[in-house]
Amino acid sequence: MAILEVRDLKKKFGGLVALDGLDLDAYDSEILGIIGPNGAGKTTLFNVISGFYKPTVGKISFQGEVISGLRPDQIAGKGIGRTFQDLSLCMQSTVFENVFTAFHKSYSTGLWSAFFHTKAVAEEEKTLKKKAMEIIDFMGLTVHKDKLAANLSSGFKKALSLSVAFATNPKLLLLDEPATTLSPDKVEMIMNLVLRVRETGTTVVIIEHSMKAIMEYCDRIVVIANGKKLAEGKAKEISENKEVVEAYLGEVEENVS
Ligand SMILES: Nc1ncnc2c1ncn2[C@@H]1O[C@H](COP(=O)(O)OP(=O)(O)O)[C@@H](O)[C@H]1O
Ligand SMILES: [Mg+2]
Repeated sequence: MAILEVRDLKKKFGGLVALDGLDLDAYDSEILGIIGPNGAGKTTLFNVISGFYKPTVGKISFQGEVISGLRPDQIAGKGIGRTFQDLSLCMQSTVFENVFTAFHKSYSTGLWSAFFHTKAVAEEEKTLKKKAMEIIDFMGLTVHKDKLAANLSSGFKKALSLSVAFATNPKLLLLDEPATTLSPDKVEMIMNLVLRVRETGTTVVIIEHSMKAIMEYCDRIVVIANGKKLAEGKAKEISENKEVVEAYLGEVEENVS
């Protein structure tokens, strides 16, 4: 079943057409990869889905309900979490504080309360801290919990950004370049966390330039070019698609060699 449906989505910035009639579905509990050249409209797509930008034309539905036109906080409240290309962490706060703040905020708006429906949890900050700590353990950040975000390596900064988004208990998580610029072992670390997140029943849509992340970990891939869907399919189909190779993969391979 499609949890997210994007239909005929257009987004213009003045005369510039960033999204040009995009259709896209994300299915329950899948990891959907989004690739495409720089400027293709990938981040704009996330900004429109999460309500930071209003669509010029088109409709977005989440779990059967139209969400296009709602405010970012309303969309987040429905269970759509995201990370940002620039990470958006509180660099002078610790790992624990970053996760706890995200967890506490969404807990008080009711997202987790359905999940941990005991009275004690609702009453006790101590219990909330314990739950935030469980998220940190789940994401493999236990040994780093008291470090300032600023002092983490780039791989663990990205792991923290993912944890902060996951702490809001999303049903759909939008990840903007969670593994770009990381070494292959750190790409694996991040993508193993993504697999772990998906096991909780969360659908993950991930924009990435790392071909390792896209080809080895995504269930399905959508290629975007010039604000339109150029192709979609499994890794093998995408890597053999002539149009995709011309528009994007050829360029990636040249960059690698
Ligand atoms: N807030 C904005 N104002 C004006 N132009 C924008 C804005 N955001 C994105 N764009 C433009 O929209 C196009 C798509 O950008 P973006 O979605 O960031 O691409 P991608 O993430 O695929 O690299 C680019 O030409 C970019 O310059
Ligand atoms: Mg981008």
